[in-house]
Amino acid sequence: MAKVQVKTPIVELDGDEMTRIIWAMIKEKLIRPFLDVNLKYYDLGVQKRDETDDRITTESARAIQQYGVGVKCATITPDAERVVEYKLKKAWPSPNGQIRSILDGTVFRKPILVKNITPAVRSWTKPIILGRHAYGDLYRGVELVVDKPGKVEIVYNPTGGPESRLLLHDFKGPGVVMGIHNLEKSIRSFARACITYAVSEKLPLWFSAKDTISKTYHAYFKNIFAAETAAQKARLEQAGIQYRYMLIDDAAAQIMKQAGGILWALSNYDGDVFSDVVAAGFGSLGMMTSVLVSPDGQYEFEAAHGTVRRHYYEHLKGHPTSTNSVASIFAWTGGIKKRGELDGTPEVTRFGAKIEKAVIDCIEAGVVTKDLVPLIEPRPAAHQSTEGFIDAVAARLKDLM
Ligand SMILES: NC(=O)c1ccc[n+]([C@@H]2O[C@H](COP(=O)([O-])OP(=O)(O)OC[C@H]3O[C@@H](n4cnc5c(N)ncnc54)[C@H](O)[C@@H]3O)[C@@H](O)[C@H]2O)c1
Repeated sequence: MAKVQVKTPIVELDGDEMTRIIWAMIKEKLIRPFLDVNLKYYDLGVQKRDETDDRITTESARAIQQYGVGVKCATITPDAERVVEYKLKKAWPSPNGQIRSILDGTVFRKPILVKNITPAVRSWTKPIILGRHAYGDLYRGVELVVDKPGKVEIVYNPTGGPESRLLLHDFKGPGVVMGIHNLEKSIRSFARACITYAVSEKLPLWFSAKDTISKTYHAYFKNIFAAETAAQKARLEQAGIQYRYMLIDDAAAQIMKQAGGILWALSNYDGDVFSDVVAAGFGSLGMMTSVLVSPDGQYEFEAAHGTVRRHYYEHLKGHPTSTNSVASIFAWTGGIKKRGELDGTPEVTRFGAKIEKAVIDCIEAGVVTKDLVPLIEPRPAAHQSTEGFIDAVAARLKDLM
């Protein structure tokens, strides 16, 4: 059987622990035997990042900028404990955070749906994709406890003046204050990345905030989204995409009654909360994919979960594991399908879709890893090992080729 040829390279970012084990199996059993692709390989495993003083992370992001499509395995973001565990020079920053800032990108999370897992919200029959703004607000806030009566003001000192002041509160007793900010450039990039992804996925786009109460701060976001969607009206219309601004409380209520098939853009805190609501509603972390999209259309695909550390320690002890590889497989297929689309090679896109079909067929036949057993109806009698599941997918894929 001739392999499917891929025109342009795909950037491959390797990672850590159990997901690194899974990643290698996917490449060996589901990709290499069927696809002739030039993979630009970057090892983002924590030891390699340490060895290169983390230069490899920046290089991998530059490669994604050059080639347009990357696939990434989950990586450790080291804390003090991990510095000791892996004997690192220091606690290197999150690779995801760095890549996101180099690509100026937005992360979209998308659940993988199968017929035999019923979402907690019965009406959800299509994926709800969440786009979370990843800069500022609560996450860059400054806070102060007020313990005595007194005035708290916001003081703005523009270069060249004049200074202006705004009374935040005249405290008569103890209390607390917070100052938050955001940047026009960041909000605009977020809006553009949302438009790019809505067009790419052909999904209606919602943005929600609370501009009835926050008439300046939230209205600033709303206005930027309005301006960006107006500027790209022709592109949105051509793709048949409707943009809607909704109050956050209205959107939160409406989403419970929708079938899904929506791209929901949210500010940082709302996105933090609702991405967990949507993930829990759809079932399992092992079934949630994530894609980073830059405003000018570069893509990096990955699983939304981490390195599944506990399973890795079992694996190191030689114990059998049953780790869900679905989201990691979909990171590969997302990259392959996008590569085919950007290169104008439909056979490559079709191959990505075939792997996805093989995965879904397995799950719908009750061939699953342990984490899915309690969610599947009817409940399967047994579960697969980590490798057993990937082998089952490979066998189905062969039949589809
Ligand atoms: N995108 C990323 O690269 C990313 C994201 C989150 C965490 N991390 C890193 O991952 C490491 C472990 O973090 P964590 O334990 O908080 O998150 P985790 O996602 O690895 O695990 C959280 C929980 O979900 C379970 N789980 C997650 N994915 C699973 C799967 N595929 N199959 C079966 N069970 C699964 C785990 O057993 C655990 O109970 C940390 O070092 C963290 O820095 C990386």
